[in-house]
Amino acid sequence: MQYEARAVTSNQDGVHDDLPALVRRYQQHRFLKPVAKHSQEAFDAVAEQVAHWRGPLVLDSCCGVGESTAVLASRFPDALVIGVDKSAHRLQRNLQHQGKAAGAPYLLLRADLNDFWRLAAEASWQLDQHFLLYPNPWPKQKHVGRRWHGSPVLPSLVQLGGELTVRSNWQIYIDEFATALELYGIESQCQQLASNIDPITPFERKYQAAQQALWQLRANLTAKGSL
Ligand SMILES: C[S@@+](CC[C@H](N)C(=O)[O-])C[C@H]1O[C@@H](n2cnc3c(N)ncnc32)[C@H](O)[C@@H]1O
Repeated sequence: MQYEARAVTSNQDGVHDDLPALVRRYQQHRFLKPVAKHSQEAFDAVAEQVAHWRGPLVLDSCCGVGESTAVLASRFPDALVIGVDKSAHRLQRNLQHQGKAAGAPYLLLRADLNDFWRLAAEASWQLDQHFLLYPNPWPKQKHVGRRWHGSPVLPSLVQLGGELTVRSNWQIYIDEFATALELYGIESQCQQLASNIDPITPFERKYQAAQQALWQLRANLTAKGSL
C-alpha cells in the first residue's frame, strides 16, 4: 500500500537560534565517540581501494536503498561511487535499482556516518561530489543537535571537501545547513527544485507525488574560506 508523504511540521519557524553556537562548539572540540565495529569494518573494506584510486570520488551519504547511488554511477562513469547507509534492510533492497547504473560499478556500505565520515576525513579522503539526499530532518526544535549540520560530525563532513548537494522537503533544513557552512566561510547556493525533475530517490519520488516543495543546497567545500 502507498501512503501519501506528509509534509514536515515543526515548532520552528526559521533557523534555530542555538545553531551558530552549536556549530562553533564543534569546530573547537574533537568528536571523540568511539567508532562502532561495523562502521570500522565497512571503512576498512574500501580504504585500500580508495587510497589507490586516482580518479574522482563520489559519496552518496544516507543512500537508503541506493537508487541514487546507481543513478550517480551512470552520471559519473569515471568515478568511484560509494553509497553509505546505516540500514542493512534498506541496502538489501538495492537489487531492483541496479539497472539505473547502466552497467557502471558502484559500492554500497552499511555504516554509521557519524563514524564513517570521521574515518574518511582522518584518512584524508577528498571527494569530488558528496550527495546527502533527504536526510532525516529531525524537525522538533529540541532535536537540532541530531540534524547533520548541528551535530559534532559536521567538521569531518566539511573536511571531506567536494561539491556538496543536500536535498530536503523542509526548507529550514536547507537554510540551517547554509547557516552552518557560512561559519566555515563556505557560501551555499540554495534553490527550490522544479516540480517536474526526474526523481532519483524513493523519498524524492514520494514527496514529488505529494506535491511538496523540494529544496536543494549546493556548496563547494573544497574552496573553504577562513574559519
Ligand atoms: C529519509 S531516508 C532517505 C534515503 C534516501 N536518500 C532517499 O532519498 O530515498 C534517510 C536515510 O538516512 C539513513 N541514516 C540516518 N542516520 C544515519 C546514520 N547515522 N548513518 C548512516 N545512515 C543514516 C537512514 O537509514 C535512511 O535510509
